[in-house]
Amino acid sequence: MNEAANLIAARLEETKLAPKVAIVLGSGLGPLVDSIEDAVRFSYADLPGFPPSGVSGHAGELVAGRLSGKPVLVLSGRAHYYEHGNAAAMRPVLETLKSLGIDTLILTNAAGSVREDLAPGSVMLIDDHINYSGLNPLIGEPSDARFVGMTSAYDSGLKQAFEAAALKAGEALPRGVYMWFSGPSFETPAEIRMARVLGADAVGMSTVPEVILARFLGLRIAACSVITNFGAGMTGAELSHQETKDMAPIGGRRLQAILKNLVGEIA
Ligand code: HPA
Repeated sequence: MNEAANLIAARLEETKLAPKVAIVLGSGLGPLVDSIEDAVRFSYADLPGFPPSGVSGHAGELVAGRLSGKPVLVLSGRAHYYEHGNAAAMRPVLETLKSLGIDTLILTNAAGSVREDLAPGSVMLIDDHINYSGLNPLIGEPSDARFVGMTSAYDSGLKQAFEAAALKAGEALPRGVYMWFSGPSFETPAEIRMARVLGADAVGMSTVPEVILARFLGLRIAACSVITNFGAGMTGAELSHQETKDMAPIGGRRLQAILKNLVGEIA
């Protein structure tokens, strides 16, 4: 176990929590931690190897507790490639989760829609992704384990559980393909048109490196996007991070209802 895992494990032992499910919250989705009961909080700053959270709208804390009565770890804030140019910045975090006994990882993000019928405020279940950045967090990994199969990166059983959870919450949850752009600048209108032609439904600046790392570590994954805006050029409006932060809580409330049901079933 690494140092961060030891610190967390010691506190989990006191609380008798043994979570198997971890949830990573994307930009502006931090308020979800308020629904965690019996919360034990750790600042990333106190966890060796955890990335400092340099993006506004990301708290940078790990919260252990219960959601729908089930034990969970919630990570509010993540490192993005565009912060430091390191696609593997989340590796120590995911290794820590794995050594704590987490076997299921739920990733969330804020994303732009490239589809007219996928409006801001919606939640999209990520069916698959396109790694448009060309980057990979496993570049430099020496072991043969680096050749990770990505055919079933997003677990089909978890997708079905997500859909059942959405149905129970009375929320629509369309499936779609997420395309990873490095950021931090937003896409151009031409890039959004390209993304649509190539088969994307949403675009964003995160999640894909974590999915690759988590598959490398053997974790089961489900992921979803909260749509905060239409992609560049679709409405004529300029895009901004402020819009992402303002709009994320709207889809975030839907996501919260879905996640409560999901964790109630799978944890
Ligand atoms: N593009 C990329 N990332 C995003 C967007 C977008 O339009 N909206 C929220 N995150």
